[in-house]
Amino acid sequence: MPIPESFIQELKLRSDIVDVISSYVNLKKAGRNLVGLCPFHNEKTPSFSVSAANGFFHCFGCGVGGDVITFIKRIENLDYVDAVKFLAQRAGMTVPEDNRNDGLSNLRNRIYEANREAARFYHKQLYTPEGKEALEYLRGRQLTEKTIIHFGLGYSPKSRFELVNHLKSKGFTNSELIQSNLANESKRGYPFDRFSDRVMFPIIDLYGNVIAFGGRIMSDIKPKYLNTSETPAFNKSRNLFALQFAKKKAKGQLILVEGYMDVIALHQAGFENAVATLGTALTTEQAMIIKRYCDEVVICYDADEAGQKATARAISILRPTGLNIKVLTVPNGKDPDEFIKSYGDQGPGRFRMLLEKSGNDIEFRLNKLRARYNTDITAQRVEFLTESARLLSEIDNRIEQDIYISKLSEELNVEKSAIKQQVMRYVKSNNRQAGAKQQRELSRMISAENDKINSEKPYNLRAANAEEALIALLMYDPDTALKILRKFSSDIFITSFDRKVYEILQDRAMKGYDFSLADISGEFTNDEVSRIAKILASHPRENDSEAAAREYIGVLREQAEQLTPEQIANADNDTIMEQLKKLREKKK
Ligand code: UTP
Ligand code: MN
Repeated sequence: MPIPESFIQELKLRSDIVDVISSYVNLKKAGRNLVGLCPFHNEKTPSFSVSAANGFFHCFGCGVGGDVITFIKRIENLDYVDAVKFLAQRAGMTVPEDNRNDGLSNLRNRIYEANREAARFYHKQLYTPEGKEALEYLRGRQLTEKTIIHFGLGYSPKSRFELVNHLKSKGFTNSELIQSNLANESKRGYPFDRFSDRVMFPIIDLYGNVIAFGGRIMSDIKPKYLNTSETPAFNKSRNLFALQFAKKKAKGQLILVEGYMDVIALHQAGFENAVATLGTALTTEQAMIIKRYCDEVVICYDADEAGQKATARAISILRPTGLNIKVLTVPNGKDPDEFIKSYGDQGPGRFRMLLEKSGNDIEFRLNKLRARYNTDITAQRVEFLTESARLLSEIDNRIEQDIYISKLSEELNVEKSAIKQQVMRYVKSNNRQAGAKQQRELSRMISAENDKINSEKPYNLRAANAEEALIALLMYDPDTALKILRKFSSDIFITSFDRKVYEILQDRAMKGYDFSLADISGEFTNDEVSRIAKILASHPRENDSEAAAREYIGVLREQAEQLTPEQIANADNDTIMEQLKKLREKKK
């Protein structure tokens, strides 16, 4: 492992699992553990449990689990080394530089460096004669000097080789230029600039890395924007434009707009909590990220038909996160940038007013429904009511639900209780459907996991159960563990996954290292760590652990002497005879 053992030990001490997880999950005390809603699958009742004493988490719903490092790996989507760095940063520690960094994270860092150098290069171009037109363009769109610098805007020159040559002079290789997508590869294998004659918008992640670019053409030629494609450093569905600024200004609320220019205009106008997706529709991953930084999101998409469709879609992605959703519709078919500009000095104030009177998403959807029916006609009024009841049944908050029911009752002059009854009918049927769906999903996940991690378990159930109990015991009780690990070789294990766990415990014990889950998680994949956490979560500490350990080892020895049905089918005669002899001796 590239990171020194002593460093990991210190990091572990400084990264309390409850502290770390609490910044993502609302945890409540339940007995000796803490519980909350699992951040890795959608659920309404908490099955996610954290054991502070033993330093691991486990979800009884989806089966995901692990130590503090695995948690960060999963929730921040990082590899092991980057998760360690992430926690180190949080704990105020610096990871000792390692030269044997793994390949991917190495390449990713090179891409960050190339992108940073490119952003600098593009920005400087604005102030050259060739970049003059671009600078004029940005000024024409009423961006101030300060805004241009704040967002690091730039210009990519026409010639297809200026950036490539510049980066080569800084020591970047052809392959790095192509893999960063700053350059395309010619038929003959030479890199040439991907962006040419465009205004450049750097895209920056939460840690300040330049991960990608959007480039806008200054004429009507299509495509209007060209973006960096996916690279090892850039996943467009996992980042949001300007979130690195907005997260500090969120104060509980983010504004979600469609375009880069909308974000920039809003920030300049004082709405520094605006973010945008990166040229794609909102994804669930982005919704989860948004949820991490605020409780309320205001969707402020274009007023045209495409924008309204995107709004409806974004609502359906955001709703399951439990965020409070509002919808702001900019009048007269303008986008937020155009709206603010059209009022000059009054722009920011006008937008603030729109923001304050923006309605929540239920209102948005009720309005859409209302527009489809003529409520003067009885048949249509009934249909509108039925559809509205279905919509209101989605609101979790009963008080909020009641307010809408009252409003509808007044508007249409229909008994409130009648509407309420209809709403409740839908609530019940929603719950049934959600319950059944979750159940199906869970059994699918669980059975898939069983096969994947320890495929031998189903055929060696008794042995695997004893192995798991033994592993839990060893990890809970280092004193007993040392005795057992020194005395018994891993041959006593029957399934190979459990044997691997035992061997790693043994290896660390022999070197005098600790072997809690956090100490060994680096040796396993995320799914394997989940399995080990599950083993821990489903085995309480034993009182007399040494006696228990010997009992489990006894079971393993017994099982070892028995052939599995598979082995019997494939065994030669001698093996069968030997097995029978053993059984006879045992009976004596
Ligand atoms: P818009 O066309 O609304 O962008 O597209 P905008 O920011 O308002 O641009 P201006 O005002 O015309 O300069 C919204 C977003 O969709 C993505 C970009 O992220 C853009 O900001 N997009 C749009 C693309 O990725 N490619 C395109 O060709 C067009
Ligand atoms: Mn625009």
